[in-house]
Amino acid sequence: MATVANVRTIPFDWYADPAVLRQERDRIFRRTWQYAGRADQVAAPGSFFACEAGGIPIVVVRGRDEELRAFLNVCRHRGSLVCEGEGRRETLQCPYHAWTYELDGSLRAAPRADREAAFDRSELGLRPVQVDAWGPFVFVNPDPAAAPLAATLGELPRLVAAAGLDLGALRFLKRVHSTYEANWKVCCENFLECYHCQVAHPGFSKVVDVSADAYVLEPSRWFSTQLGPVRERWSGDFDPRGPVARGQFHFFWPNATINVMPGHPNLSIGPVVPTGVETTARFLDYYVGPDVDAAWLEEMLAFDDQVGAEDVVLIERAQKGLRSGGLEHGHLLPESERLIAHFQGLLVEALAD
Ligand code: FES
Ligand SMILES: [Fe+2]
Repeated sequence: MATVANVRTIPFDWYADPAVLRQERDRIFRRTWQYAGRADQVAAPGSFFACEAGGIPIVVVRGRDEELRAFLNVCRHRGSLVCEGEGRRETLQCPYHAWTYELDGSLRAAPRADREAAFDRSELGLRPVQVDAWGPFVFVNPDPAAAPLAATLGELPRLVAAAGLDLGALRFLKRVHSTYEANWKVCCENFLECYHCQVAHPGFSKVVDVSADAYVLEPSRWFSTQLGPVRERWSGDFDPRGPVARGQFHFFWPNATINVMPGHPNLSIGPVVPTGVETTARFLDYYVGPDVDAAWLEEMLAFDDQVGAEDVVLIERAQKGLRSGGLEHGHLLPESERLIAHFQGLLVEALAD
């Protein structure tokens, strides 16, 4: 690899500029696959859940024909959200004026429509968007022309399986929400390096070997992988021994994080969602293997929480400096921060498109 003395970050004002966020919504979040929820939420015919992709409301529905579909969750009448939360329905009825859609999105009935000579129901179904599943994980993509999920995931499912994880055997444990006073990119970039681990995650670093020689950082076209082996002489409250030998931390462009802690089968997955220029919401769906010991699980979740709490402080503190206007850009370490360089490359590519 050619040596690069200094790699510039993207401009710091991209972390605080509403115009950049608007472009990111249009050119990134409206064109990419994003984690939406779980297949078990839409297992039965008629079950649905509402979600979002890049600020666009979407509803995922299991049809009576068992087909998984997704639609813009925006009423064709005057734009109300049609569904909220999750549940099971015979039809999707908008609460505003009771326009009623079939589970396949077509408009079944609109009150008083029979009194309007020119009213054409057939034109007014919910707008379809793409939906697909990788095992228990449901993804949506607002762009009907986007490449299929499986092609975009590439080798990622194989990598996760190679860690000793049988996705079909995992059971859902809980969904955990968190918010950050920071731009969404700060959250993603913090996830994409472990250069800060030794400094800022002392507990994690006693268990996982975060040294430059042991910790693997591997960018691919649409995802990045980090592999953290367990230290030979690990210490702490969390016992990382078990069939999953290494921690795995994957990032699927533009905003899904996938975490596997070493030890017994476990995985968490969820999106990093911009809720404003300088506010971000995340959720993680936690899954565990079928026979994982409850005490071990509790230790692992406490270990994971500790890392998450440390990251909130780092992320919010970075935002304060980034937004200040004091500096125009920063500098990346080409090796230790190669996944951030990859992320910023994808970002620039998407925004230039
Ligand atoms: S906005 Fe949905 S029925 Fe009027
Ligand atoms: Fe961290």
